[in-house]
Amino acid sequence: MNETVLTLTNATIRFGGLVAVNNVSFSLQKGDLFGLIGPNGAGKTTCFNLITGVYRPTSGVIDFKGQNIGGLPPAKIATLGICRTFQNIRLFPALSVLENVVVGAFLRHTTSLASALCYLPPSIKETRALRQEAFELLEVMDLSDVASVRSADLPYGKQRRLEIARAMATQPELILLDEPAAGMNQKEKEDLQSTVRRIRDDFGKTVLLIEHDMRFVMGLCERIFVLDHGEEIAQGPPEAIRNDPKVIEAYLGEAV
Ligand SMILES: Nc1ncnc2c1ncn2[C@@H]1O[C@H](COP(=O)(O)OP(=O)(O)O)[C@@H](O)[C@H]1O
Ligand SMILES: [Mg+2]
Repeated sequence: MNETVLTLTNATIRFGGLVAVNNVSFSLQKGDLFGLIGPNGAGKTTCFNLITGVYRPTSGVIDFKGQNIGGLPPAKIATLGICRTFQNIRLFPALSVLENVVVGAFLRHTTSLASALCYLPPSIKETRALRQEAFELLEVMDLSDVASVRSADLPYGKQRRLEIARAMATQPELILLDEPAAGMNQKEKEDLQSTVRRIRDDFGKTVLLIEHDMRFVMGLCERIFVLDHGEEIAQGPPEAIRNDPKVIEAYLGEAV
């Protein structure tokens, strides 16, 4: 049976005279691998910012598991089970790879108001458990061999994987990836594709991702939404998107 995780209904946001996202509607079922594509400036990252509470929608509804989360604070949305990575990588550069993931796991454990107010540090036992959990995630993300390396010293492709590991450590139900394959070589992209598939298949996550590499998106996502100038121009399975004349004109240039 399908279980709806996220539904945008006529989501709209204006910045002054610019309607960056205009009446966008789509729905993700549990376990979907859903792609969001479109030219630069189409409004893709702004959609992520609406879903994660960075911006409040001007109008429309963003429903996460039956609750309208539009305009809730980002920290609240994170505790409800949505986590993201950023188009421009945001790691803690001076911390080790392992520590970056521990921070993600730690955030999950300190989100209760009581512990935040008391600012209770985790016990040694808890810390050990968090480190163990973080290390297991590094293994999944194929980063355990660099666990003690400063994250700033990692090559770019591994930094992107680390951001995903940190997001996973918050144990989200829905994970948003903003251009996860950007700057990766072909081999890294192929590895990332299988990792993202594992995140869904083995961990049961629902994944919404923005990506420009059409081979990557079409080979991974089962459904794709195409945005142009803030508006939907198409949504459907990869074969339909690939052959849609409107998509080809606005974005693909030629059939891929
Ligand atoms: N905070 C903001 N203030 C004003 N304009 C913004 C803001 N955020 C995004 N925009 C504009 O919204 C449009 C969509 O941006 P964005 O969502 O980043 O595009 P994409 O991720 O598809 O490349 C762009 O024209 C961008 O300049
Ligand atoms: Mg963007």
